[in-house]
Amino acid sequence: MAIQSPIQKIGVFTSGGDAPGMNAAIRAVVRAAEYYKITPFGIYRGYEGLMDGDFVELNARSVSNIISRGGTILKSARSQRFRTAEGRKQAFDHVKKAGIDALVAIGGDGTFTGASVFLEEHNVPTIGIPGTIDNDLSGTDFTIGYDTACNTVIHAIDAIRDTASSHNRMFFIEVMGRDSGFIAMRSGLAAGVEFILVPEREMTIEGLVQKLECSKKKSSGLVIVAEGLQMGGAVEIATKVKERFSHYDTKVTVLGHIQRGGSPSCLDREIASRMGVAAVEGLLQGKQNVMVGVVNGAIVYNTFEEVVNNPQPINFDILRINEILSV
Ligand code: F6P
Repeated sequence: MAIQSPIQKIGVFTSGGDAPGMNAAIRAVVRAAEYYKITPFGIYRGYEGLMDGDFVELNARSVSNIISRGGTILKSARSQRFRTAEGRKQAFDHVKKAGIDALVAIGGDGTFTGASVFLEEHNVPTIGIPGTIDNDLSGTDFTIGYDTACNTVIHAIDAIRDTASSHNRMFFIEVMGRDSGFIAMRSGLAAGVEFILVPEREMTIEGLVQKLECSKKKSSGLVIVAEGLQMGGAVEIATKVKERFSHYDTKVTVLGHIQRGGSPSCLDREIASRMGVAAVEGLLQGKQNVMVGVVNGAIVYNTFEEVVNNPQPINFDILRINEILSV
């Protein structure tokens, strides 16, 4: 399909926390670019590389055998420097010098906020691809990496369950998510935990203890704790619960960065591949300042402003269903 567009060179980069499936998205952007006769450039270390002119020309073969790999071959960074007008000017000078006409930014809300300001100041068309394990962006049902992270969590919890039930222990398992409870909510339901604690539904220790009452008759217990709770992390919560549940031997597991690694799931590879192509096609159709998403199975584009300012609400019904299932 021939699309008339002034875009001849595009740059692609990954920014913020890495997420499994970012490589699949890079591959899709690079190959779609080649398909449409555009020259793709990889930009290393996100906005840091943009400001340093750390670019490399890529082609379809440079992204062979990366669809199954976690992390990001382009590396990633959280940049403070790009928050300054001076840093963004430096980035623009490098983009201009390399003759790059448009950018594809793979990352989360911080990445898109940066892209939005950059576009406003320097008019470089940019399209975003949601890559974060947190799933905290609206405009897409799934962000790249979320599904894999949930799979990693349920496999870890399955293993913890074995030892928890062998020793009659109550485990508090802390998962990532920054300020949102998506990972806790979905993987908690799928792992069959007793209770799911998320920042979107804060509760008191008394409230939690009451909810756990039913677990007294069980031989062991699993509580999934999202990071970012005001009531504290898993260690704090476990200590307080122990005071009330002295018959339980409470233990804590903080899953940490293992949730960010590993080979991407089928879902993450699928959406990354579709979004990568949609990003290139969107740019060729003149779209800019938008994030690609997949909603109800279809590709959609929403402005950076919309996706950053309206964080995805979690589905409270999942928490209700989990309570029914943990009787
Ligand atoms: O945004 C992804 C994420 O993994 C969050 O879930 C977590 O809060 C944060 O990044 C950790 O960031 P870092 O790896 O920079 O410590």
